[in-house]
Amino acid sequence: MDELVRITDVSPRDGLQNEPGIVPTSLKVELVRSLCRARVDEIEVSSFVSPKWVPQLADASEVFASLRNQKPDGISFSALVPNERGLQAALAVNQNAGERLIDKVSIFTAASETFSAKNTNATIAETLERFKPVIDRAKQAGIRVRGYVSCIIACPFEGPIPPERVAEVSARLLDLGIDELDLGDTIGAATPDRLRHLLLTVRDRLGDRLDITGEQRQYTPVHTIIHLHDTNGLAASCVPVALDLGVRWFDGSAGGLGGCPYASTPDTRAPGNISTLSLVEAIERHGLRTRINKDRLAAASTLARRLLDSPDPNPGPQA
Ligand code: HMG
Ligand code: MG
Repeated sequence: MDELVRITDVSPRDGLQNEPGIVPTSLKVELVRSLCRARVDEIEVSSFVSPKWVPQLADASEVFASLRNQKPDGISFSALVPNERGLQAALAVNQNAGERLIDKVSIFTAASETFSAKNTNATIAETLERFKPVIDRAKQAGIRVRGYVSCIIACPFEGPIPPERVAEVSARLLDLGIDELDLGDTIGAATPDRLRHLLLTVRDRLGDRLDITGEQRQYTPVHTIIHLHDTNGLAASCVPVALDLGVRWFDGSAGGLGGCPYASTPDTRAPGNISTLSLVEAIERHGLRTRINKDRLAAASTLARRLLDSPDPNPGPQA
């Protein structure tokens, strides 16, 4: 199995969608450029969702337009799309740019009905129905599709989520033809034991279709990605568990920014993602590596925190 672990930095999307203020387009573009210099494998640049639901990312098309001709070789740009309208906007970006600026779109559903309703105004079944034409059209256009399942451990409204339900929703996404399965611990409820139990349950149900079995296969299995939020400071301790079970792809967020606005409750604001730097360090402590330049990542993290006007909780190595 490949020992190089892949990282998607989601700070321009997950990081900025939960902030009360709206970050200027030019600064979002600067953050993406800074992440390119740090050589993350993929950058989740923005979302083509309803601007009424997430005004912070209403400038997705402008952000991408400013990045024209600037995507370095070997780095992917991706964006969230909730429906066909979102996909059309993503395809228009590529058409207007005259290049495949967006390599991948990410659809998103949940293992919790309450979260799904609050996040997308739809049942889980309705979200899956919406995704069918999105996946088919994206594939026709040569664009990969990531499928997120939120609330893999717990839901901010329903509490603990049975792992079997996560496996069931994941199976439905795989049936629809996603290329990557991204398991999201939306509110940072994972502990090493809970994550191990979840991953073993998903592997029991779907292992032969995923890349977490550690076995060589004749066909290309669907990649499995782990997306941790860091509410209780336990996210980094969950990373080795996932690595031991064969996961070789994680999401992180520069500066630890992040959180889903629809995962917040009146008492608790949705927590930030695991910082990409903590993620890289946890991977290295486990004897594996990424291709990230940590000094440049530290610079990107400082920039990300500065966008929010708050100090970086994990400043990393000093350049
Ligand atoms: P709705 O209100 O049920 O749908 O929203 P609608 O079809 O009635 O649309 C409402 C308005 O939005 C209409 O405009 C549509 O045209 C427009 P109006 O007629 O009122 O002027 N609209 C759109 N505009 C732009 N782009 C679109 C689009 N679609 C409709 N694609 C909808 C349904 C899904 C659109 C809405 O609920 C939505 O946008 N939700 C997104 C919420 C979101 O982005 N959440 C955060 C991302 S998920 C996350 O953070 C979790 C993750 O990080 C993993 C983890 O941590 O677990 C991925
Ligand atoms: Mg998230």
